[in-house]
Amino acid sequence: MKTLLSGVKPTGRPHIGNYFGAMKQFVDLQNDYDDVFVFIANYHALTTENKKDLKLKENTLDLALDYLAIGLDPEKVILFKQSSTPQVAELSWIFSCLITMPYLMRAHAFKDAEAKNKEVNVGTFNYPVLMAADILIQDADIVPVGKDQRQHVEIAREIARKFNLLYGETFKEPQEKVLEETETVIGIDGQKMSKSYGNIIPLFATEEETEKIVMTIAMDSKGIEEKKNPDDYNLYKIAKLFVSEEQDTEIRAMFENGGVGYADIKKYVAGVINDYLREMRERRKELEKNSEEVLKILEKGGKIAQERAESKMKIVREKIGI
Ligand code: ADP
Ligand code: TRP
Repeated sequence: MKTLLSGVKPTGRPHIGNYFGAMKQFVDLQNDYDDVFVFIANYHALTTENKKDLKLKENTLDLALDYLAIGLDPEKVILFKQSSTPQVAELSWIFSCLITMPYLMRAHAFKDAEAKNKEVNVGTFNYPVLMAADILIQDADIVPVGKDQRQHVEIAREIARKFNLLYGETFKEPQEKVLEETETVIGIDGQKMSKSYGNIIPLFATEEETEKIVMTIAMDSKGIEEKKNPDDYNLYKIAKLFVSEEQDTEIRAMFENGGVGYADIKKYVAGVINDYLREMRERRKELEKNSEEVLKILEKGGKIAQERAESKMKIVREKIGI
């Protein structure tokens, strides 16, 4: 039995980086595994510094709609809220007592957070431990994620090893699945695309909004007639995610031959992006009319995930003697 598991935090509108780095993989792989768990990481979302604007409840429904709209099949995939399996918080405590502060202090996400803000919350420090609990409690074999999450899956493996060594074989060692081509999708400013950097193209933006955002991508001051190398431009790097072979040739020619202004290239790229995303955007609009149904899907998934988590915890509690 092979299990795939992954999650996304309900901290705002998912963007094309989330999609090509992680979420698209969930859809593409959903029929390749016996069990597929995809969840809404609402406990993890609580590590967000500014909790006042978090709108967790709305974001949770929104992310469920997003998951369904991109093509996750609720007949095949167990979709659920992380908080439907409170057992992960219990397991996270057990793991916290197993690994050391110096080890966790090496985590990139924590180091980055600390560099920005000296008063990092304890949840941010413990983030990888809770994530390890999410993964290990369901015996996941494979965890599709973007590159920024690779280290977290490594930590989960380390925790599994440590637990198994001390208490006997209990947890599987999971493997991350990161797609080389889209491991770090860049944002409209050329940095990594991230909800917290204000540089995103939302997956479910309107076509007008998408075009507006694409128009703001920075170019350079080269003249229209100058020949350019498309690979030097963020616009092209983003466009590449969406293009067919034919469209790729067309866009490259606009740069390489000169004669087409940046505004026109951008309009063309916005059109390509909108064409690519149109179907899932329309599907989402339909799903919005049925949000009751969507909540039922989450509830049903929550029950299955919770049962499996509880039966794993029975074994864990037995092994550690509580
Ligand atoms: P964000 O970093 O925008 O807050 P999340 O932390 O919720 O997004 O990430 C959800 C998933 O999307 C994770 O698997 C993460 O690795 C992936 N991901 C996020 N940003 C990118 C990106 N720019 N390129 C590729 N994958 C990404
Ligand atoms: N940390 C992941 C992110 O930022 C979300 C997440 C929480 C996750 N638990 C997980 C991803 C378990 C994969 C497996 O996107």
